[in-house]
Amino acid sequence: MFRQKIHLEPGKGWLNDPNGLCYLDGKYHVFFQYTPEDAQGDGLRCWGHFESTDNAKSWTFTGITIKPDIPEDRDGVFSGSAVACDGLMHLFYTGNVSGADRASYQIHVTTRDGITISDKRVIMSQNDYPDYCTRDVRDPKVWIEDGKWKMVLGARTGNNKGCVIMYEADDPDDWHFVKQLTVDNFGYMWECPDIFNIDGKRFMSACPQGLKHEEYRNQNVYSSGYFRVTDEGIEDFEEYDLGFDFYAPQTFVNEYDERILIGWMGMCDTYYSNPTYKLGWQHCLTIPRKLSLTEDGHIRQWPVINHDLYGKLEENPENRVRDTELPCDIVAMLNGNDYEIKIDDAAIRYIDGVLYLDLTRRDIGTGRDARAAKVGELKDLRIIIDRTSIEIFANGGRYVMSSRFYPSKEQVGIVSRGGGFLIRQIDKMEVRDLEQ
Ligand code: FRU
Repeated sequence: MFRQKIHLEPGKGWLNDPNGLCYLDGKYHVFFQYTPEDAQGDGLRCWGHFESTDNAKSWTFTGITIKPDIPEDRDGVFSGSAVACDGLMHLFYTGNVSGADRASYQIHVTTRDGITISDKRVIMSQNDYPDYCTRDVRDPKVWIEDGKWKMVLGARTGNNKGCVIMYEADDPDDWHFVKQLTVDNFGYMWECPDIFNIDGKRFMSACPQGLKHEEYRNQNVYSSGYFRVTDEGIEDFEEYDLGFDFYAPQTFVNEYDERILIGWMGMCDTYYSNPTYKLGWQHCLTIPRKLSLTEDGHIRQWPVINHDLYGKLEENPENRVRDTELPCDIVAMLNGNDYEIKIDDAAIRYIDGVLYLDLTRRDIGTGRDARAAKVGELKDLRIIIDRTSIEIFANGGRYVMSSRFYPSKEQVGIVSRGGGFLIRQIDKMEVRDLEQ
């Protein structure tokens, strides 16, 4: 019951941010923030690890890769990233120390298989951060560009201003501060930064905490989005996802040289919940999403699912209920200015330029209410539904809304109005658990 079929989730315990995403010698590696012993996330964070050798058709969970066992990561192995080169993964993460001697260390380890790691090397401590930083400095995202190692870290200044600090290195154990990237009045702490190019345009991701909540913007407790990077700095923050459950995404380049984003399909400190914690686990990652640009320079996200998992395409007319096993992939057949599709008790509605995700009916969203996205003219609408999640991609992925929902039965009824829909069943992605 409630087990996801095409999303990575832990067999037991708590998952949050994706970490160390990379492709190395025929394998995809997905690490994640993991607290195996507690489905509510209390307890020490580790890095768990999934790998796939068949392009995400099936996965193997190999267990914990990094756990707290040195003074500098005593209270948690926090988020970070991977650089895959010369047959080796370089993993960078934040060692969290809380209490009176509160500190954040940046730590480097290497691994060939994602299972056995080298000795831990502490590469940065408080003295290496600019004076204006507090002890909140974390989530190293590292990459190699023009022959140099580069790193961004999320940080909070003494004046409670969120920012990103950037470093460079010739040797991944010896870093030099380069600059700070920030904008005024934009939250007190920025987590999980990332910097990358798409079609020659440069972007910086960040997860600002403390933004003002508005009707169509920053509706979640914490935000997650991207800035354009210019010669002068960063500008024009745009959220990645306007649903209830999306945070701390990370990108990497796959074997086809495409930029892929995976997010945590969850959120901290929410007023809504996930009933699976009573069954012993909580949270999953999003479907991997390929990033590209719209004509006006916004990021589009498009789901990537292994084609071997797909069943045949079927057409369903409007106003006819279709009983369906989940997961499935739906494409709306839009025919006018008003469209609604109901999946069990969840409703997705498009009215006058606004797309709504309504989870108020019979507590299908276990506390989630409704979210709205201003999308303008709705040109297309694709929805990926798993056993307990909905991911909505509008206008070629220019607008995305992701959310958990909890239908009581394995089979759900789907019905649309204002046009029919095309539907394809998706097979379960096998996940082998080496710990069981
Ligand atoms: C984001 C975050 C990171 C931190 C990690 C701890 O969700 O708070 O900033 O490294 O989670 O699990």
